[in-house]
Amino acid sequence: MQETKTMEQIPETEPERQLYFMSRIKEENRLRAEELGRNLTYHIETFGCQMNAKDSEKLAGILTSCGYTEAATEQADFVLYNTCTVRENANTKVYGRIGYLGNLKSKNPEMKIALCGCMMQEQHVQEKIKKSYRFVDIVFGTHNIYKLAELIYRKNHGEKRVFEILESTDRVVEDLPSEHKYRFKAGVNIMYGCNNFCSYCIVPYVRGRERSRKPEDIIAEVEKLASEGIVEIMLLGQNVNSYGKTLSEPISFAELLRRVEQVEGIRRIRFMTSHPKDLSDELIEVMKNSKKICRHLHLPMQSGSTKILRKMNRKYTKEDYLSLVSRIRTAIPEISLTTDIIVGFPGETEEDFLETLDVVKKAGFDSAYTFLYSKRSGTPAASMEDQVPEELAKERFQRLLQVVSEQSELQTKKGEGQTVEVLVEEQNAQDPALLTGRLSNNLLVHFPGSTEQIGTFVNVKLNECKGFYYLGTLVD
Ligand code: SAH
Ligand code: SF4
Ligand code: F3S
Repeated sequence: MQETKTMEQIPETEPERQLYFMSRIKEENRLRAEELGRNLTYHIETFGCQMNAKDSEKLAGILTSCGYTEAATEQADFVLYNTCTVRENANTKVYGRIGYLGNLKSKNPEMKIALCGCMMQEQHVQEKIKKSYRFVDIVFGTHNIYKLAELIYRKNHGEKRVFEILESTDRVVEDLPSEHKYRFKAGVNIMYGCNNFCSYCIVPYVRGRERSRKPEDIIAEVEKLASEGIVEIMLLGQNVNSYGKTLSEPISFAELLRRVEQVEGIRRIRFMTSHPKDLSDELIEVMKNSKKICRHLHLPMQSGSTKILRKMNRKYTKEDYLSLVSRIRTAIPEISLTTDIIVGFPGETEEDFLETLDVVKKAGFDSAYTFLYSKRSGTPAASMEDQVPEELAKERFQRLLQVVSEQSELQTKKGEGQTVEVLVEEQNAQDPALLTGRLSNNLLVHFPGSTEQIGTFVNVKLNECKGFYYLGTLVD
């Protein structure tokens, strides 16, 4: 029996090859579970952005197909960290937690530890894991997540430690099983990688060059999700506005949205992230006329100073950004705008910082994610002169936070008293009598209701603004 199995041909084409490894591991795990008298479990911890969250759903799909069941904590037989390296504190956090995994492993001989994601694409990280974290079994990067089953198979069949990190890829393997964290909303990759090389950013180095998926494949995935009951989708890419430009039959992001809008069953469409330099009037028009595209745009500005924007390689000026905001607001007055801002970029003076505050006031953001500049090795900004002292950057950061929260409260207050349609997402973690619903503009409201309403659309009156969210009541 055993003999014939090992003689079996391993398929060379994908996805058949991975499906083969999944079924082999599943069988081995079944036997092991019988010996142990319990199921084998997995736990994935995801750091970073929506792309990583989406990747983790795919990885969960593979682990489920390998016969593992999900565990709520890291007390599991297969623990996977999907890492982020966009800022230094993301890395520090991961190293601390890997140490903790080492302790858990010493108590559970069954346990395997795997690391993947953006941080693993960095040479110095790979070396550190090899040298200082010997208990880590499997390490892979962002370009080969589809191979997880094969890597586990190699580990189970004699390889002491499996390290497989690819520099780049032009290969995208799809049609593998995937899990969904929610049964009513899902993310859909429309492109991978990034070509923008903003001078502070490590993403293009760890995620590779920009690759758009074919519109037919995207639509087919959205249709499948709709048939499974998904009502809200989030189209994902580092710069969705440049979607489709490099396809053999080029298509604009606005045109893709028109097509996604046609998919029956989908009631809400969101997308992330928009780079201001590529946001077209065609897109504003499509958003304006759409019944499904949500009234929310995340438009990272990074800095309000034209001088700093140039050093960041963002390819727009303060005036370009403000004029874009004004065109969007004129076309879609009810839109909510959110942004990302970096404080303390090399060479930022008090005047530059005041320009940032000025844009925050003028643009009237509903919220802003604010970050202290973090030096990423290998990026052009890391070797720029005039790095801003940490104390000064922190002081500016606090001032920015103050203005951002004032602005966001002003914006949120405008909604008070309105009755709006929300998608009910979950039971409130603090108060189980409350549900949490998401407005089209991405703000949240908490209101009394029953858990059967999760995943449905209901009307809620926004009674009270609590800064950046509301308290409300259901309206029939
Ligand atoms: N592709 C998206 C952003 C992805 S990273 C875009 O261009 O908008 C998310 C955010 O992290 C960025 O918008 C930026 O504000 C922040 N960020 C990226 N690199 C950073 C760094 N080195 N230091 C501090 N913040 C950074
Ligand atoms: Fe980073 Fe710029 Fe690409 Fe966004 S657009 S991922 S900030 S390089
Ligand atoms: Fe982090 Fe990678 Fe996303 S570095 S922000 S997880 S693309």
